Amino acid sequence: MTKSTGNLSSNNPIICAIDTTDIAKAKKLVQSVRDSVGMIKLGLEFFTANGVAGVREVAGDIPLFLDLKFHDIPNTVAGAIRATAAINTSIITIHASGGKAMMQAAAKAAKSLPSSPIIVGVTALTSLDDDDLKAIGFANNIQNQVSKLADLVLENGLDGVVCSPHEIEILRKQCGKDFKLVVPGIRPAGSASGDQKRVMTPKEAINLGASYLVIGRPITEAENPAQAAKDILASL
Ligand code: C5P
Repeated sequence: MTKSTGNLSSNNPIICAIDTTDIAKAKKLVQSVRDSVGMIKLGLEFFTANGVAGVREVAGDIPLFLDLKFHDIPNTVAGAIRATAAINTSIITIHASGGKAMMQAAAKAAKSLPSSPIIVGVTALTSLDDDDLKAIGFANNIQNQVSKLADLVLENGLDGVVCSPHEIEILRKQCGKDFKLVVPGIRPAGSASGDQKRVMTPKEAINLGASYLVIGRPITEAENPAQAAKDILASL
């Protein structure tokens, strides 16, 4: 049970997002990038299709970001986090909008696990805009909502947030140097942005203060995924 904490301090901030339900495809990808990335990310899609057994089979002893974005009452979220003991994860996500008690329960549950995963909060989903927030009854605009939830994350014992590249600078200032900023929406110079609307290069994001870069398609759809990851690492 040493993989998580040990590798969190690794010098490789690249987290490769494995977005598929196909277990054979996921395994092949993970085997090809395992020595070139710091961690892999499996999310709701993969987990719903393949469960804990599938995660164990694909991740093996590679540091894992389990991106299930838990959002429920404190007791249930704490129980779900404790249940990840069977998977041994390095990073787990929960929704910061689940409230103070839920965040505190999540932080406490994480500390009880042998792998001591870090827990990061999802603030406002990047698929939402100001009008969407208003429609679901939130008074803040996106930027203020992200800022407010990041403060709550910090106050309630979580380790950081998932944020867009364009929030790195402000959140790094607001939340201090130890706060973890896990950043998707990263594109190496010259690569296709796909459906990502606001992208940044790996180097720009790291220079602004990102802790981890979540990168999917620029690695997984490359002809040689391992080389693509190595090139990104070299660019930092
Ligand atoms: O392929 P790509 O590099 O766009 O993958 C980014 C990964 O980060 C995907 O797994 C996506 O679901 C995730 N993500 C994101 N934007 C967020 C939160 C998570 O792109 N705001």
